[in-house]
This record gives sequence, structure tokens and C-alpha cells, in this order.
Amino acid sequence: MEKLVIRGGKPLNGSVVISGMKNAALGIIFGCLLVKDKITLEDLPLISDVKLSLDILRRMGGEVTENEDGSVVIDCTNAVGGISPCDLVKKMRASYYLLGAELGRFGRAKVGRSGGCDFGSRPIDQHIKGFEALGGVVTVSDDYIRIEAENGIRGNELFFDVITVGGTINMLLASVLAEGTTVIENAAKEPHIVDVANFLNTCGAVITGAGTDTIKIKGVKELHGCTYAIVPDMIEAGTYMIAAAATRGCLRIENVIPKHLESITAKLVEMGVSVDEFDDAIVVSAPDPLRHINLKTLPYPGYPTDMQPQICALLAISEGTSHLIEGVIENRFRYVEELRRLGASIDVNGKTATINGVSGLHGARVRAVDLRAGAAMVIAGLASDGVTEIEDIHHIERGYHDIVGKLKKVGADIEKVEIQTL
Ligand code: EPU
Repeated sequence: MEKLVIRGGKPLNGSVVISGMKNAALGIIFGCLLVKDKITLEDLPLISDVKLSLDILRRMGGEVTENEDGSVVIDCTNAVGGISPCDLVKKMRASYYLLGAELGRFGRAKVGRSGGCDFGSRPIDQHIKGFEALGGVVTVSDDYIRIEAENGIRGNELFFDVITVGGTINMLLASVLAEGTTVIENAAKEPHIVDVANFLNTCGAVITGAGTDTIKIKGVKELHGCTYAIVPDMIEAGTYMIAAAATRGCLRIENVIPKHLESITAKLVEMGVSVDEFDDAIVVSAPDPLRHINLKTLPYPGYPTDMQPQICALLAISEGTSHLIEGVIENRFRYVEELRRLGASIDVNGKTATINGVSGLHGARVRAVDLRAGAAMVIAGLASDGVTEIEDIHHIERGYHDIVGKLKKVGADIEKVEIQTL
């Protein structure tokens, strides 16, 4: 097992290049199951969740070739449904995309229960409602979810009760090869939804409206191969924006779509951070002190829940009292206890964290309790005096490509070291 060791207090300066978006890549990789042809994916972030997804496709009979230039060729012509490996599937949340992809390709699905970040209960009732609307009969047992569609998958209209990223992507995957037209109302609008739709359209699907509340999918008979580059990761970019601000440094963040970052930029500017936008880059720098703000996380285009722990770390060292409301995911404040070890003053009451800014944090031993919580620990460690050790870094490695290398390049004192056991 490894941990991160950070000697904090050094401003980050220089430029960092953002990788392809995790949450788009995962939908797209499982989407390859729908295509009996070669797909070349470019700008795939080589993070552990992506490697795991590729391994799952391999174990299902897909051919996956990782090229030296970083591109990956996936050919699922000979893939078989219903045999996804439970040991791998249960390690990640996004493996639930196999349900939509198997249903779309084979007209039936059998997939083990998925894992991922532990935020307590993470229901998939809306996914199930969607599969049923398309004609699927869903059976949920302790180990597996099975879907049968004896009369085939048929397009239908569906109104989601809650806005769900995974549910929307699963409906896209399940319906692109269905007979007739599917209409999803109250669809999620995140850039990863648009990217998955763009990928499927490049393979010959007919999807319109992705990025709005209403998505229409006109079923086609088959999809064909293509070459597709994954969109840049807005959450990785946002994380480096906050790391620049927390260390009072100046970072040029390259390979971004500034429009995707608007809600993050707006809150940072409100705190006093300077953000300059260019075509595909932004420059972030911060004066001292920064101001307190109030913030609520919301589905896109609101401020993302996946950037909630990171901004909490920044607010912990900003002047005054901030209120942070988690409006998307239950129980996403487990990391607060870890920030307190570094000297932060934060009270949590239900969905609201009240953060009383302190003048500085001090190094300590902390855990990455989940992926974005781990990113918050890195940010807090970089901004702390002394040495911060972060354990359980496998969570961080699920979502941030080469975080140590990228941070070192801009002046951070950060190492990944083996944990010595007796
Ligand atoms: N929900 C339901 N029923 C459902 C589906 C969702 O009640 O059938 C609720 C959830 O409990 C949650 C809310 O709706 O309260 C939103 O959940 P959503 O389905 O949008 O989340 P997800 O698809 O499971 C994805 C990302 C998460 C990100 C959320 C919200 C992937 C693989 N995961 O999860 O990413 O937090 O959307 O934007 O795309 C991360 O990258 O760190 C991460 C956790």
C-alpha cells in the first residue's frame, strides 16, 4: 500500500495539462459494447477506473489494445453478454453502464452489483424505471441485476423523477439500437452526457438534445466504428484551479473548455480569486486573504457536487464564515473529520457545512475517504505548514491521472511512498 507525503506551504506556479474526463470515458468505454467494429479512443485518462473498465470488456471477450501514443483500440465484435466479472464490476460504480449496454446490444443483461465511492445509499431506481419503460423486466437480487426483454427493446417516453447522470447515460446506451424513438425528459445536462451522445452519434446513432432537459434517441439498426477523442475533465481542471488558489500560486491550466468551468470560476471570483479565460486554457491566481462565500451544489450547470470537498478545503483557509450546502448526493461530508485533523474549523449539520475560516492549516496524517475527498486532502496538504500524509490513495488514483507528476511539475513537494508494515 502507498501513501502521499506532502511538505506543504509552497505556491504552485507553472502550467498543468488536463486529461480526458473520467465520467465521460467510463460511459464511452462501456458504450463500445454496442459496436461490432473497431473504436479508437483518444485522450482516455489512464486512471484506475478506466483500466478496470477496459479489463471488464477484455474479460467479456472484447479485444482491447493500448497503443504507445496513449490511444486505445476497442473491438467488441465477439463480446459476450451476461458474463461480466463480478470481482471487477463490484469495484466501481460506473460498471452499472453494463446494464444499459448489454440490454442495448443483446436485448438482455445480467450484471453484478456495482461499487464506487461510499456515500451511503446510492439508489438506481431511475435506471430501472428507464429499462422498464423500454420493455425490460428487471430482477434485482443480492448479487446480480438481470433484465429480460422478451419482445425486444422499444423506444418510449420517460420522465426522470430526479436528475441522474448515470440514469441518463444508461438510457442512451439502452435505447440507441431500440426500435422506434425514445424521449428522455428531465435528463441530466452535464458535459459528460453530451460527450457520450457525441461519441454514439459518431458511431452512427441519432441522438438530439443532449445538454438540454429533453433528449431524443431515434433507434438505428447498428453502429459502426470510429475514432473519438474524450472531452477534457472539468473536475480535474477545477481541482487544479482550487489548488492554485489554496497555495496562493499562479497556474495556467491547459486543455480545458472554460464554459464547462463557469460555475466554479464564478464562485472562485466571488472569493477574490483571479481567473483569466482563454480559448482552451485558464490562468488562476489568488491574493491573500480570500473571502467567505455561501454555496449549494446542484446538477449542471450549477456548482458540481464533485467539486464540493475541494472548495471546502479552500474555504477552511479563507476569511469569515462560509455555508456549504450539498444539494446532490447524500452523506458527502465524511471527509470533514479529516480536514479537522489539519486544523480546519467546520461543523456539519445535515446537508450543510458551516466553515469558520482559520489563518492556516498544519500537516497531519489523514485518509482519502473517497475520490474527491482525497483531492481535498491533497489541496489542504499543499496549503498546510509541515508534512501531511494521505492514506487510502487508491481512491485518488481512480480519478486523477498522474496527480503526483503534474503537481511536482508546478512546484509541489509531493511523493508517493510505500507504507511500511511490520
Ligand atoms: N439518484 C436516485 N435514483 C437513481 C439515480 C440517482 O435517487 O436511480 C440520486 C442519487 O442518489 C443522487 C442523485 O440522484 O442523490 C444524483 O445521482 P447521479 O445518478 O447523477 O449520480 P451517479 O450517476 O451515480 C455520477 C458520477 C459521480 C457524480 C454524480 C453527480 C459517474 C461514474 N459518477 O454518479 O461522480 O458525483 O454523477 O454528478 O459518472 C466522482 O467522479 O467523484 C463521482 C462520484
